[in-house]
Amino acid sequence: MILGRVKPLDAILATARKKSLHRTLGAFQLMLFGIGCIIGTGIFVLTAAGAQKAGPGLMLAFVIAGLVCIVAALCYAEIAAMIPVAGSAYTYSYATTGEMLAWTVGWALILEYAIAAAAVSVGWSGYFAGTILNEFFGLELPRWLAAGPLALGGQPGGFINLPAMIIALLVTWLLMVGTSESARVNAVLVAIKVIALTVFIGLTLTSPSFDTDQFNPFLPAGVFGGFGSGVGAVGAAATIFFAYVGFDAVSTAAEETKNPQRNVPIGLVGSLLFCTVFYILVAAGAIGTIGGQPIMGPGGVPFPAGSEALARQCAMPQYAAMLVCSDEALAHVLRQIGFSGIGNALGIAAFLALPSVILVLLFAQTRVFFVMSRDGLLPEGLSKVHPKWRTPYVVTAITGVIVAIGAAFFPVGQLADIANAGTLYAFLMVAVAVMLLRKREPDRKRDFRTPAIWFVGPATVLGCAFLFVNLPTAAMLVLPIWTGIGLLIYFAYSRRNSHLGKGIVEVVDDIEGDGTMIPIDPPRN
Ligand code: ALA
Repeated sequence: MILGRVKPLDAILATARKKSLHRTLGAFQLMLFGIGCIIGTGIFVLTAAGAQKAGPGLMLAFVIAGLVCIVAALCYAEIAAMIPVAGSAYTYSYATTGEMLAWTVGWALILEYAIAAAAVSVGWSGYFAGTILNEFFGLELPRWLAAGPLALGGQPGGFINLPAMIIALLVTWLLMVGTSESARVNAVLVAIKVIALTVFIGLTLTSPSFDTDQFNPFLPAGVFGGFGSGVGAVGAAATIFFAYVGFDAVSTAAEETKNPQRNVPIGLVGSLLFCTVFYILVAAGAIGTIGGQPIMGPGGVPFPAGSEALARQCAMPQYAAMLVCSDEALAHVLRQIGFSGIGNALGIAAFLALPSVILVLLFAQTRVFFVMSRDGLLPEGLSKVHPKWRTPYVVTAITGVIVAIGAAFFPVGQLADIANAGTLYAFLMVAVAVMLLRKREPDRKRDFRTPAIWFVGPATVLGCAFLFVNLPTAAMLVLPIWTGIGLLIYFAYSRRNSHLGKGIVEVVDDIEGDGTMIPIDPPRN
């Protein structure tokens, strides 16, 4: 039963062919698209949490997480070029491992997209409160409005993160009324982010404050902090993995790409490599100037990032200026080394660019919900398209409210860790799907073939599993609990209402159409 109800690949491909988008994108445009989705809260904010977990070993953490993402990206590239339809990992799993596992993947994608959108909203809120309100208007947002009750990364005493909630709702509204980011706006925002990071790297690495002694000890919490501890270089890699999330969006553009065999991998791997190098240099600049040693707790183990215990330490004057205590890590570094104006400009860059990351993540979430609802696994009312705006407004509104609640009450680090748990599961399943298809349908046309699949595929599975078990225990536990809830819903509702179960394959790749209904023999199980 577990592997039953596989959606016929030919039916999916028939619809994809009907859609036949123009192939207009080249490698460079794909890279721009990728970088636009990738650079966000991870580097601008979570650098502080990463340093608290690994100290200067954060640089190694960026390498480890980057490597896992690159092998995962190579798997994505093959399957995305082969099954170029909406729904991403959910659709790929439906066509390979069957409905039940596809449901768990779709359900986990809620963690990847919705919870990640909440995390980016909280990251944005740090820059809004610190740079825009505080530096420019001299206003101090009361603590109870600046952080959720569980958001203990600064001082205790939060109640609701109002700016994070508002930005999540604002972006939701933009999506509901049909805003999508044009390639031109994306290019401008990518330029803003890349310039901001380049200036950061240039100023910090050449600063007189830069001191190689700051890298000593390089691994104050070791390489392995212990499974579930969330510390050490691999613990930091599991968290900072968030900084790379979003590259899978590039794979969804595979069918619009010229010469995909060449351009898709260049776009995916190129954007990831570019970000990896930038991230390592940013980490080097931040740590080399103001230092990035963790604040150690009892037993010489770093206090957990985002914990109340760490918050209490950060409230003490001798620790307040440390990298690990900052809500707007990169702007904070520049201010500390005497570039307040440029630090504020970097804060504005984050303020302007992070909402577009929220937009891409929310958009991806609504499309996954939409496809699941069109498959009958979620109530069909969800996929209603607004007559005027031509958007799936019901599902967008529901998603926006979930994201806003997450953003209002949870700390950025925990949200990112939970998003990572879901994402790692989805990536792992994509690698499984690619390998299954190679075995089952070796002769099917592939626009792009993952090189050395029998190395890259297992490396992706192992790499994702490895990062997963190095997440903090609480984040790790969310995935099985979340999947358990999902399976209850699946057996109580989705399995009985599944179109495939009723003998209809409906393949949708565009909210404008009604979908293509293809009757088939109902599966026996
Ligand atoms: N990678 C994206 C970010 O760091 C999700 O914000």
